[in-house]
Amino acid sequence: MKEIHIKAAAKINWSLEITGRREDGYHLLRSLMQQVSLYDSLDLKLAEEDRCFCSALVDQENLAFRAWLALKRQLSLEECLEIHIRKQIPIGAGLAGGSADAAAVLMGANQLLSLGLSSEDLCLLGLSLGADIPFCLRGGACLVEGIGELLQDLAKIPSYWLVLANPGFSVGTPQVFREYDRVGSRQKVDIPAVVDCLEMGQRELLPSLWGNQLYEAACNLYPSLSRIPEFFLSLGLQPLMSGSGGSFFALCEGQAQAEAAAAELRRHVHWAAAVQTLN
Ligand code: C5P
Repeated sequence: MKEIHIKAAAKINWSLEITGRREDGYHLLRSLMQQVSLYDSLDLKLAEEDRCFCSALVDQENLAFRAWLALKRQLSLEECLEIHIRKQIPIGAGLAGGSADAAAVLMGANQLLSLGLSSEDLCLLGLSLGADIPFCLRGGACLVEGIGELLQDLAKIPSYWLVLANPGFSVGTPQVFREYDRVGSRQKVDIPAVVDCLEMGQRELLPSLWGNQLYEAACNLYPSLSRIPEFFLSLGLQPLMSGSGGSFFALCEGQAQAEAAAAELRRHVHWAAAVQTLN
C-alpha cells in the first residue's frame, strides 16, 4: 500500500463541565463527546519529503502535520509522507477539526506503514499533541474525563439529527480557558442525567439538563457569539455551544427539520449544516 484515504469526523459536546485545574494549567473536565457526520478528508502517501497541503488556511505546521512529525521522530522512521487535507469542518470552531485530522494522520500512518501501534500507543502520542485527540481516535460517543484522556464508551446512545451553526471566525481555545479562570460559569450541568436522556431518546428534556461551562468565557471574549442562540430560539430550537465555541448545535426531530433549520440559520450566520450523530 502506497496511499491511504481517510475521513476525519467532527465532534460536538453534549455537555462540558470543568472540574479542576492541573498544575500545568490544563483544566480537568467532564464532558460528553460525540462524533457527527461532518468530515475532513485526508490523503496520505509515501513521498520524497514530508509535506502537508491543506485546502484552508492552516499553515504547514498544522496539528495533523505535527502529528506525523511527532510519530516519525518517536519511532525514528525514515519514510516521508505527503499529506493532503480537504477541510469541511470549520476551523477554531469547538468541533475538534484539527484534532480529528491529527487523529486521522496517526491512524492512517499506522496502517500505511504497517507500524503495528496499539490504540493505547496512539492515544498516548495523541494526548501529547492535543487534549481532544484521544477521543477523536476512539470515536462514537464517550464520557470524557481528565484533560481528555479518560474515555468511557457510551454505546447505547441512539442516532440523532442535529443542526450546527458557526459564526465564521476562529475562537482561541487557550484564551477561552484562561477567561474561564477569571469569570467561571453559572451553567449547571447534570451529566449523568444527560446520558440517561440521550440513551432513552428523551430529546425534549435535554435542554434543561445540559450545559457548557465555557459559554460565558467564550461570550466575554467574542461578544457576537451571544447572538447566535437567538437565531436558534427563533426557530423553536434550544442551542448549546460546542467545546470552547464558537459553534452551536440543536437537536432536531429528523433530517428534514435539521436541513430546513440549517437553511434558515444560513441567513443569519456564516455557516450551518444538518448532521447526524455517529456511533
Ligand atoms: O490540547 P489542546 O491543544 O486542544 O488545548 C489548547 C489549549 O486549551 C491548551 O493549551 C490549554 O490552554 C487549554 N486546555 C485546557 N484544558 C483542557 C484542554 C485545553 O486548559 N482540558
